[in-house]
Amino acid sequence: MEYIKINGGNTLHGNAYVQGSKNAVLPILAATILSGKTSKIHNCPKLSDVKMTVEILKFLGCDILVSGNKITVNSSNITTDFIPYEMMKKLRSSIIFLGAILSRQKSASLSFPGGCEIGLRPIDIHLKSLKMLGVDIKEEHGYLNCRLDKLKPGKIHLDFPSVGATENIMLISAISNGTTTIINAAKEPEICDLQNFLNKMGAKIKGAGTSVIVIEGVSKLNECEHTIIPDRIVASTYLSAAMITGGSVIVENVIPNHFGAVTSVFEQCGAKVETFKNSLYLKAPKKIRRVNLVRTSPYPGFPTDAQPVIVSVLSKADGVSIVKENIFENRFKHTSELIKMGADIRIEDRIAIINGVKELTGAQLFASDLRSGAALVVAALCANGQSQVYNLNFIDRGYENLVDVLKNLGADIERINDGNE
Ligand code: UD1
Repeated sequence: MEYIKINGGNTLHGNAYVQGSKNAVLPILAATILSGKTSKIHNCPKLSDVKMTVEILKFLGCDILVSGNKITVNSSNITTDFIPYEMMKKLRSSIIFLGAILSRQKSASLSFPGGCEIGLRPIDIHLKSLKMLGVDIKEEHGYLNCRLDKLKPGKIHLDFPSVGATENIMLISAISNGTTTIINAAKEPEICDLQNFLNKMGAKIKGAGTSVIVIEGVSKLNECEHTIIPDRIVASTYLSAAMITGGSVIVENVIPNHFGAVTSVFEQCGAKVETFKNSLYLKAPKKIRRVNLVRTSPYPGFPTDAQPVIVSVLSKADGVSIVKENIFENRFKHTSELIKMGADIRIEDRIAIINGVKELTGAQLFASDLRSGAALVVAALCANGQSQVYNLNFIDRGYENLVDVLKNLGADIERINDGNE
């Protein structure tokens, strides 16, 4: 069995280089099938979710070359419109293939997607939007059987700015005979990266980063080369690691204006934050100050993906902090593990009431999803004694080299395979 062993208590200092963004690379890889040409994607993080996406692309008929952090996809020969349940269940973002395959094949047969167990994660907004664009969808035996005779471009008003639904609409509308406008679109930086990638292929999309995205259909797309943006959630994890250990860190290779909501919370906690062109510096206070309220919300609000690590940080603050989770209803699973470490946290529905304690103690900890795994590692860094964090398959979905980066910053941390099942 593999686990991460951490002897807590070291103060972290130094520089941490940030990998490419998981949530940007996954839809961009799906988008490579639109062109039927070759796409070269740089700065792809080495993650199990990326590997699974590459497997899906191969299953669809793509030729793929992975060389370090570069992935080259030749999508000239797509041979199926089908993705089996075994592949779909492994990652939530597989639903993005729906728009991409429909655009390319005019039909698609996909099972309902899987992903982290952080909430119900329905796909009604995706399906409603695609139906409005003329897709015929039949839900049969756990599969979505879809046909697209002719895309009907038009205005689509999203009930909620869903990241995945926004991406699916962009993918299906990029090649079309008309203009599609998404109103109340998601504004996440990863949507901007998808727009930039599609436009490099020859699409005509504008407005990403605002709540109105206009997609003027084109007749075909071309070859292109693209570099994935840095991962703002991974960077927030490193900032949290420095914060909770009372240290300092420079996160390198980031886009500082992606962090407004996160650094504002760290500043309220007493951290000193400085931003540079491609990096961010954080110096932790001697004692972490409590904050009144952190509320997760769509970008540019506080990211739900950074909520678990912030809860770890606040569990050591000098008083009571409130964190409200507004995006996913089941995202406080890590708190039961933090409580094992001595944290004083009460959950009331979507609200965590965190009464900061002087000390956390090391324990055996079990990740229940990707970001909860990161939160446990962060908490263990400051705990008194040793912790072992299990269920690394979750952490491997989103962190390329968490252990090495933290070790470089001075953590006493190791990944161990004890040989037992
Ligand atoms: C993406 C991110 C994920 C992040 C989330 C919110 C990827 C691969 N994943 O997930 O890391 O936590 O954005 O920033 O990019 N919803 C519906 N119906 C739908 C779609 C969504 O009710 O059809 C709800 C979801 O259950 C959730 C909220 O809307 O409560 C946000 O979901 P969405 O923005 O779609 O997140 P994902 O694209 O799944």
